[in-house]
Amino acid sequence: MSAPLRFGRLEKDLSGLLSKNRRIAVDENVYSLHQKKFVDFEPVYLVRSGEKHKTLRETERFWQYLWDSGAERKTTVVAVGGGMTTDLVGFAAATWMRGAPFVFVPTTLLAMADACIGGKTAVDLPTSIGTAKNIIGAFAEAEFLFYDTRFLATLDERQRRAGMAEVLKHGLVCDADYFFQAENLDDEALIRRSYEIKTAVVESDPTEKGLRKILNFGHSVGHAIEGLLMDTGLLHGEAVAWGMAAETLLSVEFAGLDSIEAETIVEKLRKYMPPLSNFSMHAMESLMSKDKKNEAGKALFTLLERTGKAVYNVEVPIWAAAGALERVKSRV
Ligand SMILES: NC(=O)c1ccc[n+]([C@@H]2O[C@H](COP(=O)([O-])OP(=O)(O)OC[C@H]3O[C@@H](n4cnc5c(N)ncnc54)[C@H](O)[C@@H]3O)[C@@H](O)[C@H]2O)c1
Repeated sequence: MSAPLRFGRLEKDLSGLLSKNRRIAVDENVYSLHQKKFVDFEPVYLVRSGEKHKTLRETERFWQYLWDSGAERKTTVVAVGGGMTTDLVGFAAATWMRGAPFVFVPTTLLAMADACIGGKTAVDLPTSIGTAKNIIGAFAEAEFLFYDTRFLATLDERQRRAGMAEVLKHGLVCDADYFFQAENLDDEALIRRSYEIKTAVVESDPTEKGLRKILNFGHSVGHAIEGLLMDTGLLHGEAVAWGMAAETLLSVEFAGLDSIEAETIVEKLRKYMPPLSNFSMHAMESLMSKDKKNEAGKALFTLLERTGKAVYNVEVPIWAAAGALERVKSRV
């Protein structure tokens, strides 16, 4: 079962939902912007902000804190922050004494609409090619998700756009109307519809044996770009927007997507795709060749048959994916 969703005000409503036996980990930027909300939760543990800290090293620092503060197997771990924090702290909890209960309090649009839903926790692995995204992780479901949408007031426009990219992905793979209408919805409506779409998919395939792969649309290319360019400040949602544009072009070639429809999709994604710094195409191809969806040495992609309908396990030559990205780059 998916983690239930609760809306409320952190300082007023969260304490009553938690046992006293708890440890709270908060993204350091979120803490400095919203310190007053945490008065009743002190002392809190501060997670270093930024994707470059989504590592085993940072996870170990948190495990040390759990150890030093006497956390037990039944201690509830609470993660407050964006998707980086919920992924890392969720993974730390999922492996603490082989699995402690945890609760997510997402604070970015991306985390509310996507990252904290569905029970995937993970950290990245720095490698000689680039950063391998979410390579070390566990499937583990939060006890519940607590949403205080007031956090979104301090999110800058660029971070919001990065979150919208994952929201548009939900529309592209499951619901064409949502893809076209999402930008007109308010935050709560967006979050509720994305939660609905993602939980329906995840409940039918919690550990990604099949259908859940549709949620990876844009991520074969997107994760590789992110793995190479995260040091330049490129955001996860921005990399995914680029990945979705490239994989939309691939969908015309390999999944029968209508080319006019593809143009419409790429046009709509354009504003979510900031200019990319230079990177080595060879390194990108190497990262894509090690994507988690690949099997028996074959690169398997999720593509679109039409807007709102995705297909998965489509074999695509890596060179074709690199070529699609080059074509998108030449147009933006
Ligand atoms: N587990 C999943 O299913 C899943 C799905 C999608 C993405 N992800 C992961 O999520 C991560 C991206 O999430 P993200 O975009 O939330 O990134 P993030 O957690 O790094 O947050 C982005 C930035 O916003 C800041 N921030 C967070 N909340 C804020 C607030 N309320 N006001 C102002 N600043 C705030 C953070 O300090 C950070 O600098 C990636 O690691 C990605 O792999 C996971």
